[in-house]
Amino acid sequence: MADFDVIVIGGGPGGYVAAIHAAQLGLKTACVEGRETLGGTCLNIGCIPSKALLNATHHLHEVHENFEKMGLMGGAPTVDWTKMQAYKQDVVNGNTKGIEFLFKKNKVTWLKGWGSIPAAGQVKVGDEVHNAKNIIIATGSEPSVLPGITVDEEVVITSTGALALGKIPETLVVIGAGVIGLEMGSVYARLGTKVTVVEYLDAITPGMDGEVAKSFQKILTKQGFTFVLGAAVQSVERTGDTAKVSWKLRKDDSAGEITADAVLVATGRKPYTAGLGLEALGVEILPRGQIKVDSHWQTSVPGVYAIGDAVPGPMLAHKAEDEGMAVAEVIAGKHGHVNYDVIPGVVYTTPEVASVGKTEEQLKDEGRAYKVGKFPFMGNARAKAVFQADGFVKLLADKETDRILGCHIIGPGAGDLIHEVCVAMEFGASAQDLALTCHAHPTYSEAVREAALACGLGAIHA
Ligand code: NAI
Repeated sequence: MADFDVIVIGGGPGGYVAAIHAAQLGLKTACVEGRETLGGTCLNIGCIPSKALLNATHHLHEVHENFEKMGLMGGAPTVDWTKMQAYKQDVVNGNTKGIEFLFKKNKVTWLKGWGSIPAAGQVKVGDEVHNAKNIIIATGSEPSVLPGITVDEEVVITSTGALALGKIPETLVVIGAGVIGLEMGSVYARLGTKVTVVEYLDAITPGMDGEVAKSFQKILTKQGFTFVLGAAVQSVERTGDTAKVSWKLRKDDSAGEITADAVLVATGRKPYTAGLGLEALGVEILPRGQIKVDSHWQTSVPGVYAIGDAVPGPMLAHKAEDEGMAVAEVIAGKHGHVNYDVIPGVVYTTPEVASVGKTEEQLKDEGRAYKVGKFPFMGNARAKAVFQADGFVKLLADKETDRILGCHIIGPGAGDLIHEVCVAMEFGASAQDLALTCHAHPTYSEAVREAALACGLGAIHA
């Protein structure tokens, strides 16, 4: 039995960041992780492997779409799926080993195994019980599968199976037009799979700015996606190597069905807290399964904290990381803070889609007076040079004060471009502050500046 100042349960982006930062702050820290490798869902079976596959298939898409236009002639490469999977695994291994190295460097003890909390101040791993002055639950989330659907991870799959299919399917049905469905759908569409997305709502990517979502759908349709919107999935039945998805359209109850080689169920995720012993411990759980925490991420049991996907808020690795940093600060007696108004969201398709702050729909609902500055990538020389002129930057600012309220980008490098707006928002900047900041030419970021100009002074290239 060992004594720790902090034991973190879960070694994903929330947990490992909390552990490293707690150790940096001088606290004796351990992190419990039952997987063979650190990094949680994100590094092992989420963000990172999907980005490897998105990268490889993006290049293939470029070969097919743009190489000849640039005078790069010759046959398109053939796809070696086994090798692509190995590349993906190398990327994962490099990253998970990196976290192990950071644990050693920062003197964080990795307690290997699955943890539970038999009592406040105690964490049990295997047969051993460790004392901890503070416990941080960072156990993440798991796919939330529709009732009545049986996932086998071969034909009826979640994101986990989608990253490791035995072969490239000829046809794929994606249930749910959210981030996972569209990112993994993109991987397979670029590999030649016929992808059909069945979505319950009447638009894709719920919560995204409506104008951006519409443009996104158009672009994906051009890339070969088929969308069935407003469709409530009734059943998924596997027969042999295929599965049949049946739905009813919400507008008129008419039935539809499609059979495919693979069916990806991407209808959201739910907190993963099974086996921790939270009920016996008396930790309050919210109706949707999340752990209730106060503004310092403390649960209803003193000394037990929770962060990341297991608590309310967007299920995003970077939100979990920020909470991990902040809760370590709080435990160390400092001031930990997360600005929930400035958390970017990115979809890593081509083009990328990124957003931060309020959508236009939210501002309308709130009855706020706002102005819109929009700039199309068609007016951006760099985007045109690389055949990525689809999309636009949309900046929303307060009508009176010009303060930036939100930004929504669909276009090249959107996932990186969004951060200059995040920083601007953190500093309470106005659209004019952005507009009067010199941006290098020729860069995609000039489009952000032009959108800021469009909020007041007027865009130059539109
Ligand atoms: P999501 O919540 O983003 O989307 C789920 C979609 O499924 C919604 O559009 C919903 O309307 C639809 N849906 C629900 N029930 C349905 C039904 N019966 N029939 C048809 N459609 C139905 O969830 P997703 O894509 O599974 O992602 C889970 C979480 O992981 C999200 O919080 C997401 O933000 C996060 N994530 C983030 C990534 C990123 O930041 N790039 C990448 C992957 C996941």
